[in-house]
Amino acid sequence: MTKELGVGIIGCGNISTTYFKLSPLFKGIKVLACADINPAAAETRASEYGVKAQTIEELLANPEIDIVVNLTIPDAHFPVSKMILEAGKHVYSEKPLVLSLEQGEQLRGIATANNLKVGCAPDTFLGGAHQLARDYIDQGKIGRVTSGTCHVLSPGMEMWHPNPDFFFLPGGGPILDLGPYYIANLINLIGPVKRVAALTSMASPTRTITSEPRKGEVIPVETPTNIHALLEFQNGATITLSASWDVWSHNHANMELYGTEGSLFVPDPNFFGGTVSASGRDKDIQPLETWDHPFSVPNQEHKQGMMANYRTAGLADMALAILDGRDARCSLERALHGVDVMVSILQSGEEGRFIELTTTCTQPAALGIEEARALLR
Ligand SMILES: NC(=O)c1ccc[n+]([C@@H]2O[C@H](COP(=O)([O-])OP(=O)(O)OC[C@H]3O[C@@H](n4cnc5c(N)ncnc54)[C@H](O)[C@@H]3O)[C@@H](O)[C@H]2O)c1
Repeated sequence: MTKELGVGIIGCGNISTTYFKLSPLFKGIKVLACADINPAAAETRASEYGVKAQTIEELLANPEIDIVVNLTIPDAHFPVSKMILEAGKHVYSEKPLVLSLEQGEQLRGIATANNLKVGCAPDTFLGGAHQLARDYIDQGKIGRVTSGTCHVLSPGMEMWHPNPDFFFLPGGGPILDLGPYYIANLINLIGPVKRVAALTSMASPTRTITSEPRKGEVIPVETPTNIHALLEFQNGATITLSASWDVWSHNHANMELYGTEGSLFVPDPNFFGGTVSASGRDKDIQPLETWDHPFSVPNQEHKQGMMANYRTAGLADMALAILDGRDARCSLERALHGVDVMVSILQSGEEGRFIELTTTCTQPAALGIEEARALLR
């Protein structure tokens, strides 16, 4: 039987239900306790999912817990992750890992000094669709990737999230909120980024919440909500990334990659599944034959029908990586490089110049069918 690491969750809001629900699918992890700055939130999740509600201090001192998952809001990610490392536990954070490179370097310093690991979402690039795209590129089917386009455009978040404030404050905005899915997948597919440039703007300095329970409340917008970025990758590929919450509708695809031998059409990097299509030099775009990847299998009901959702795969991969002494796919170096890309995009928007990145990372190991099965119970 695979050894298990004890997991505690800090931050019992919206996304925590996904972690509670999906973590039992995976080997190597067992959620034992949860905590929140708001004790009632922790108690609610504890009674829903049969774990122990603790104070943050109790959870950090709990000897059964090896990894703490940080599901707080972006602004709290750094202080909470720092506290977790200082308590001698590994951290797995929701995205974005931190809001500046300095914060990330501090976490790296504490982790290295104490022989602890830091991992970070998103893990959607481990999905069957994105791993199929990775396999297609690795096999050389579209030749060398030279360029591409990414679009993540919508009217915003205030129409669905019960507490949408953090999305419109520094640390939020579409590039830090949704950019991680795209950047992590681009790193998965083509490797690290060399430099970026961007134009940024916001359609309105305030937003009116239309979701319950705060319908009608006006909240401030203090970060760009419309970003057009250019990314030059270390392999020479040039990719445009448009991320906006100022768009009511559009007809762009999520991700298109163009190579010397053909083109690849990648589904939404915010999800695990979807159809991957490609063409060769004949320009005949066809869906790729689906493969039997466990993280393509629909397992959750959504408005759009059944979809594949294997969030927490990155956490399980990290736990097994710790147990086996190997590199975790959702590692600190990759998450920090992603933060470098995102904060540099915002900096370029402010300063009107190209920003050379100061971090780099390796491509994560591919997660083929057998490797994905090995993560599941
Ligand atoms: N909601 C989603 O669909 C979704 C999806 C993917 C990723 N995420 C990411 O997950 C994180 C949480 O998002 P959410 O939607 O669950 O937010 P949320 O506001 O619903 O929940 C956050 C929880 O963290 C708690 N919290 C805040 N600061 C804290 C602190 N200092 N110490 C302890 N607890 C604290 C809050 O009380 C709240 O219960 C964000 O980084 C977000 O980007 C959310």
